[in-house]
Order: sequence, then structure tokens, then C-alpha cells
Amino acid sequence: MKLTSVSRRLVVLTALAVTPLMPLQAAPNTAVSPNGLELPQNYKDWKVISTSHRIDNNTMRIILGNDIAIKASRSDNMNPWPDGAILGKLVFKQVAEKNWPSAIAPDKFVHAEFMYKDAKKYKSNGTGWGWARWLGMDQKPYGKDENLAQPCITCHVPVKGRDWVFTTAIKLP
Ligand code: HEC
Repeated sequence: MKLTSVSRRLVVLTALAVTPLMPLQAAPNTAVSPNGLELPQNYKDWKVISTSHRIDNNTMRIILGNDIAIKASRSDNMNPWPDGAILGKLVFKQVAEKNWPSAIAPDKFVHAEFMYKDAKKYKSNGTGWGWARWLGMDQKPYGKDENLAQPCITCHVPVKGRDWVFTTAIKLP
């Protein structure tokens, strides 16, 4: 009995040790965050809600929304945001515009992050939003487990009364 369990363990350990070296191993699914949220497939085609610029770390941001979020922002229905709304933020390092140095322009892509509104599904984290981030051009999922949302939520506390959202939609004519 003992031997069997030891040898079973050995098989498992060997498999674990060999797995990362196996060329045929399926690539990890980078589209899924460790908390189970999926990278919205067509976010690059979403419309713009606003833009922002962080002067402490020299980054520029574009804030986007899926169709439900855009409809809500344009009909001033943002507190609370409706279920199904997803807000995205694309962050870029800034660089001086090469043909006009007093202007800044987006440079290297830093990360994309998203807030997914579902008041029931995400009630337990106290915000009614799911939170996820993907890093860099290879879109590496951020965080280790479902607790990855904690630092997001802590930093968004100042806007708790605005349904946890900092961004004010740009006004268009
Ligand atoms: C250091 C504080 C801080 C942390 C940590 C943080 N945020 Fe934010 N977040 C902000 C601020 C400030 C804004 C608005 C200004 C801007 O666009 O950067 C913002 C904006 C956003 C927006 C655009 C909608 C809005 O609220 O204006 C999304 C989406 C977002 N954050 C997602 C996340 C996610 C997901 C995480 C965690 C993985 C996270 N944030 C962590 C401070 C933070």
C-alpha cells in the first residue's frame, strides 16, 4: 500500500516537473484573469467615454465602454451603471510628440483594465463590479487569485458614491 502511494506521488511529481518543458503543452489562456473574468474580445472597437492623464507617473489613459456602457453614459444613467456595462481603461506611457514637442502623445502600451457591472454577481466584494487587468502587449493576466480586486477596490473608495467610477463622460455637442 505504502509503496503504491509513494510511486503515485512520484508519477505526479515527475509530471509536474516535466510539464513546463513539454513543447506540446497548450499555451496558458491569457484571456482569462485569475478571478475568472474574461478579456472582452472586441474591446479595441469600443467607443470612448473619456480620457485622462496621470501627471505623477506620466501616463495617458483612454476610457472606453461596451455598448451598454456607452448608452448609459450618453443618457446620463451612470449612478448606478446598468448591469452588463463594462468600462475599459487603456494606459500608455507618454512621449513628446516628435513633430511638436510641447504636445504629448501615447507611447508604449502599459495595461488594459476593466470593470464589469453586475450588481448581483459581484455583490460579495461590496462594489457590484468585477475587476480585472491584463499587462503589456502580451496581455498577461494580472494577479494570483480572486483577491486581485482588493487593491483596485481600495483605490476606488473615494468614488464609492459614484458607483465606484472616477470617470466623468466627456460632453459632446
Ligand atoms: C492607485 C489607485 C488605483 C488602483 C490600484 C486602481 N485604480 Fe482604477 N482608477 C484609478 C483612478 C484615479 C482612475 C481615474 C483616472 C484614470 O483614468 O486613471 C481609475 C479608473 C479606472 C477605470 C475607468 C473607470 C473609472 O473608474 O474611472 C477602470 C476600468 C479601472 N480604473 C479599473 C481598475 C482595475 C480593474 C483595477 C485593479 C486591477 C484598478 N482600477 C486599480 C485609480 C486606481
